[in-house]
Amino acid sequence: MKIITVFLVTILYLWTTTSGEDFENGKEICSKCECRKTPDNKTLYINCTDRQIKHIVSDWPENSDNIVATFSQNEIQTLQTFPGSKSRIKLVFDHCGIETMEPGLFESSLGVFYLDLSYNKLTSDALSADVFKGPYNISEYQPIPLEYLNLAYNQIHSLHKNVFEHTPNLKYLNLEGNDFRVLDDMTALSFSLIPQLKIFNIANNELTDVSENVIRSFRSLIELDISNNDLDFVPRGMGILTSLEILRMDNNPIYFLDDETFLGMDDILEISARNLTKLERIKTNTFAQAKKLKKLDLSQNQMLSAIDDQAFLNSEKLRELNLSNTRLPTLLPDILNWSELEVLDLNYNEFYCDCNLYNISQQLSEDIKRDQNGPYCKDVRTSFSLEIYTLTNDICMEGNYIPNFIPKPHTGSKLLRISLVLLTVMIIVAVFIAAILGFAKWRAWQRNQGYPFASQIVYNPITTNVHF
Ligand SMILES: *[C@@H]1O[C@H](CO)[C@@H](O)[C@H](O)[C@H]1NC(C)=O
Ligand SMILES: *[C@@H]1O[C@H](CO)[C@@H](O)[C@H](O)[C@H]1NC(C)=O
Ligand SMILES: *[C@@H]1O[C@H](CO)[C@@H](O)[C@H](O)[C@H]1NC(C)=O
Ligand SMILES: *[C@@H]1O[C@H](CO)[C@@H](O)[C@H](O)[C@H]1NC(C)=O
Ligand SMILES: *[C@@H]1O[C@H](CO)[C@@H](O)[C@H](O)[C@H]1NC(C)=O
Ligand SMILES: *[C@@H]1O[C@H](CO)[C@@H](O)[C@H](O)[C@H]1NC(C)=O
Ligand SMILES: *[C@@H]1O[C@H](CO)[C@@H](O)[C@H](O)[C@H]1NC(C)=O
Repeated sequence: MKIITVFLVTILYLWTTTSGEDFENGKEICSKCECRKTPDNKTLYINCTDRQIKHIVSDWPENSDNIVATFSQNEIQTLQTFPGSKSRIKLVFDHCGIETMEPGLFESSLGVFYLDLSYNKLTSDALSADVFKGPYNISEYQPIPLEYLNLAYNQIHSLHKNVFEHTPNLKYLNLEGNDFRVLDDMTALSFSLIPQLKIFNIANNELTDVSENVIRSFRSLIELDISNNDLDFVPRGMGILTSLEILRMDNNPIYFLDDETFLGMDDILEISARNLTKLERIKTNTFAQAKKLKKLDLSQNQMLSAIDDQAFLNSEKLRELNLSNTRLPTLLPDILNWSELEVLDLNYNEFYCDCNLYNISQQLSEDIKRDQNGPYCKDVRTSFSLEIYTLTNDICMEGNYIPNFIPKPHTGSKLLRISLVLLTVMIIVAVFIAAILGFAKWRAWQRNQGYPFASQIVYNPITTNVHF
């Protein structure tokens, strides 16, 4: 009797642990989570945020054209195959501690177009092509229609070269906050499998470079975020991104922007270049090619002390400019048509009140000048701070006029510095050689002084005797 009871209990235990715990029961999920439908019954929302869920649902509670399921903040160590469905599905699994994923996640759920796996513990090894393979058909795996993949804030440092083999439709890829130091050749190869990518985010890694191989894979890119890395120059070859509209490159030690930086980006509308910690000057023609540029953020560039004359040449569409918190002492009225700006931020600078600023202020729209905490400049006559937008033209009077603070553009400055260094080295070497030669000569001469033959030759008695 006892043995039978133990046997039954064991069977019951095994049964519950193998089938009961393997998946969340889909039919009961709505009693555990929040479910609601749109009035037209076309979209089913399931919110399972923070419900101590450990497994994927076995099936969806009911069929609906669209399903939006959120499983944030649960404890799902292994992501299992998604339940079979013909619905168009958006899945969110952020903050779930996911470490591994089963092969063929999407095999029976071809409608998943959106997958958020941000803030998990995925490593490079967890991401294999097998995970994304579709159903097998005749001789190969069918591609899956996944368009949006968020892998931000995981532990990925590299991608397998074929990881995107089954996801040719990917349009959005987020790799923010991972462990990339370089985008190596394998990673670059993987990107060549997703030529339709439109939005790519690789912000907040430790990149020191983005190679041209990577850039070349992304010809259809519209939005690129390379902020918060260790880049000291804007990646070369970006001119190939002719359809790029938005570029974010904030918080990098970039020290250099020039007429080639944005060359080729004919469609660029918005550039965010905040806090480029080493940028000192915006050179002539830097934004000359950006003919459609509408919004430019150069704020928090705390080393920026000059914008050259024709930096914005041709940027006739510029409407929003942020120049707050820089080291600019003044601005040139000629660099752009100030009257066309709709948004301008000049706060937290150390401007000197000069005729340039007065001129600019005269051109600005009333909307901009309405700013109550208007930007200030320092009046060198009195050391008082004045509001730039209320300056009067007496600042332009002779005597008050402050000579142009903007140093003359010296485009060849780096070349000049290198030449100077070279010249100095050459002079030092020349002096050194001269000293050695001189010393050697002196030693030779000194030796000759006490050398009998030498002196005999010099004072040859025959030659001296010739004259008697
Ligand atoms: C949605 O479904 C409910 C029952 O599930 C039904 O009563 C309602 O009429 C449906 N609405 C539409 C617009 O089909
Ligand atoms: C899901 O529910 C949580 C609270 O449990 C709420 O904070 C969150 O905004 C909801 N998410 C969605 C997508 O409805
Ligand atoms: C299988 O693949 C072939 C060729 O790619 C395609 O024409 C066919 O529609 C696919 N079958 C299914 C069931 O998707
Ligand atoms: C500027 O960027 C550096 C990294 O390049 C970062 O350490 C610093 O916190 C940033 N400063 C601001 C104000 O964002
Ligand atoms: C300009 O940038 C600063 C700092 O980056 C930000 O605080 C401010 O809101 C921006 N100004 C406008 C008008 O967007
Ligand atoms: C600046 O823009 C205004 C308004 O669009 C226009 O009237 C003016 O001619 C422009 N000035 C120059 C120098 O292009
Ligand atoms: C300011 O504008 C006036 C005419 O509006 C011009 O004569 C003067 O040269 C300008 N000054 C500077 C410093 O640009």
